[in-house]
Amino acid sequence: MRPVFIVVLLAGLLGAEVATAAGESPAGKEPPAVCATCHGADGNKTLDGSYPKLAGQYADYTVKVLQDYRSGARANVVMQAQAANLKDEEIRNIAAWYASKSSDLKDLREFK
Ligand code: HEC
Repeated sequence: MRPVFIVVLLAGLLGAEVATAAGESPAGKEPPAVCATCHGADGNKTLDGSYPKLAGQYADYTVKVLQDYRSGARANVVMQAQAANLKDEEIRNIAAWYASKSSDLKDLREFK
């Protein structure tokens, strides 16, 4: 194997590890405490039925929606304020954390 090829291969492997959508670890990091006020400590027990459950949501969806609140592409007074100061790394960790929780949402897979 030529040295240049090895360097490129190694750079690719390292890059792939750094760039996972899952945050620093697959389980991410616990979100700021304020999020639990409305979305529940585990992302399931929300303040009331009008607040979305976040547990079990795909991490890439949660990353996108938090970035959209931050940029204003998705408009919501409450959530734009919550997302305004989140950095991309925090967003990835929050998203990975919610994705790692099991959701108590039901879907049609239960109906046979
Ligand atoms: C004061 C209550 C409140 C707090 C605090 C709060 N949220 Fe929200 N969140 C909401 C509401 C209400 C919505 C629905 C907004 C909409 O319709 O776009 C929402 C929506 C979201 C969504 C989109 C859900 C979906 O299915 O599209 C995400 C992700 C989210 N919040 C994450 C967070 C995170 C992370 C924090 C903490 C940094 C947080 N929220 C703090 C009330 C809150």
